Amino acid sequence: MTKTIIEPFKIKSVEPINFTTRGYREKILREAYYNLFSVKAEDVLIDLLTDSGTAAMSSKQWAAIMDGDESYAGSRSFYKFEEAVKGLTGFKHIIPTHQGRAAEKILFTVVGGKGKIIPNNTHFDTTRANVEFSGAEAIDLPLPIALETDKYADFKGDIELNRLEHLIKKAGASDIPICMLTLTNNSVGGQPVSMKNIKETKALLQKYDIPLFLDACRFAENAYFIKLREQGYKDKSVREIAQEMFSHADGCTMSAKKDALVNIGGFLALNDEKVAEKARSLLIMTEGFPTYGGLAGRDLDAMAQGLMEVLDEDYLKYRIRSIEYFGEQLRNENVPIIIPTGGHAVFIDAKKFVPHIPPHEYPGQAIAAELYLEGGIRSVEIGSVMFGKTIDGKFIPSNLELVRLAIPRRVYTQSHIDYASEIIIDLFKRRNTMPGYSITYEPPYLRHFTAHFKPNAPKQ
Ligand code: F0G
Repeated sequence: MTKTIIEPFKIKSVEPINFTTRGYREKILREAYYNLFSVKAEDVLIDLLTDSGTAAMSSKQWAAIMDGDESYAGSRSFYKFEEAVKGLTGFKHIIPTHQGRAAEKILFTVVGGKGKIIPNNTHFDTTRANVEFSGAEAIDLPLPIALETDKYADFKGDIELNRLEHLIKKAGASDIPICMLTLTNNSVGGQPVSMKNIKETKALLQKYDIPLFLDACRFAENAYFIKLREQGYKDKSVREIAQEMFSHADGCTMSAKKDALVNIGGFLALNDEKVAEKARSLLIMTEGFPTYGGLAGRDLDAMAQGLMEVLDEDYLKYRIRSIEYFGEQLRNENVPIIIPTGGHAVFIDAKKFVPHIPPHEYPGQAIAAELYLEGGIRSVEIGSVMFGKTIDGKFIPSNLELVRLAIPRRVYTQSHIDYASEIIIDLFKRRNTMPGYSITYEPPYLRHFTAHFKPNAPKQ
């Protein structure tokens, strides 16, 4: 067997990227107040801001787009989409939405509300925001090891079952309308959840009659990790593993912008008839008629095709290996990252990368800004800019200070990754020269999107 794992596709259509100079990027970043969300995409060389909605579609998906049926009601595209999702998940009611957060909004408007509690291994930020907006409380129950960036575990994404049971006993099952599992667990590094954990979560919830919902954005990556790492799964197909994951749940929310390999789309799928009926009423008010849900017919066709392609094991082998390869390049030069690498991104541990920059000077932001200046790479800070707070004048940092380098699906080649690694390693070698940052403006909510920053003067 050859050692080299190659991209399992050839490129039919290309999009040029713009080369810029450091001087030009200095001007751009200054004008963007050092916030990478305010930089125009055409001024970015390698865009690792997110793996969401950034996939390259296949020629079969583009063909499906041409074949889309744009009928308002009962379009052929809907039935194709519905069949693909039912075949994969086994759920009875399939409700299309324009993206994941729209499915979350509808679900939590129906099941959430004041006094309710929603546990999750770790809520993604839009999931948390939708739970909280409904008046309910969002509780994260990650494994303690998930916070130790340098410790290996096969399934760092699992939920902590003891704490879940304790919470159910304390809060009372009637106040917990559903429990969620996010696959893979994005916020702790794209780490997978084991089948054992999914099964045990279901068994525990069943005792208390609480339904289990999956946040299934990256279900295929999760299923592939189960195949690689969990006993008893190596001879099963990834599709069978994914089907088994869904079979233990009562419903799911899905951002098709990840593992359905499309640029827009999502769905809510579930078995409960009454919840589905309420969800469909809300859908008609906010998204659209139940056979298109805020999407064009052609988008539904592309999703149906993408959901098949993502389970191709040559694709998943390349996908997971390419993230691991990126991680290896960095680790070979001692760049501190979360280990093991997860399914969709490499996460730099900023506290260890620049120990001289304290959390209140935003080490993750400092690295993200510098990677742009140095090599035109766009990443995202997931640390005290995103989660830190100041209460009564006291700064409360985030648990972790991370920089996420998310890899769009089927977009960049190995040499793009080699280039990004080179830039990061060069920066790591001169990390002592890097300044911290201050926030000069922040909006009342979700400040990371629009805050203004400035580099601090170097300390003498
Ligand atoms: N759940 C998870 C685990 C996610 O990662 C995301 C999006 C969503 C839900 C919401 O889906 O964007 O379609 O509304 N994550 C993107 C990211 C934005 O960059 O990680 P959406």
